[in-house]
Amino acid sequence: MKGATGESPVYDIERVRVLAEERTSLRGSLLEILHAVQDTLGYVDETAIPIIADTLNLSKAEVLGVVSFYRDLRQEPPAQTVVRLCRGEACQSVGAERLVARARERFGLDIGESSTDGRVSLDQVFCLGNCALGPSAMVDGRLIGRLDEATLDVLMAPRL
Ligand code: FES
Repeated sequence: MKGATGESPVYDIERVRVLAEERTSLRGSLLEILHAVQDTLGYVDETAIPIIADTLNLSKAEVLGVVSFYRDLRQEPPAQTVVRLCRGEACQSVGAERLVARARERFGLDIGESSTDGRVSLDQVFCLGNCALGPSAMVDGRLIGRLDEATLDVLMAPRL
């Protein structure tokens, strides 16, 4: 992620430490921390791994293993536009996988990938609370229902 000057902003390690310490007693604390870090800082930078590992008394490999396993956790800064396709059960039953395939075939993006110019990222979510109007997606914070391939093209193409 670049700032107005074109330089990458500094990743706020102190913020990671605070987010981690606030969540050590929660059930599933590692995932809670990782999601909080991503929600706050946009992604889980490699410099966050040892901080989180120390806070939870885990090895760096254990933390990195979890980050790598969950495709909705990013290890790179997000793109300008983030398209989150819902792959929850209800959306799967009405064609969510067709949209995942479309993004792959037409734009060369798999879930968890960003375009080479960093303008669009494709992510997945598991239910946006819009099941009755699936397949659903969230594009730059905007909820979209009854998404089909043609609309996905319109949403993604101008950004690529
Ligand atoms: S499963 Fe997609 S919105 Fe609920």
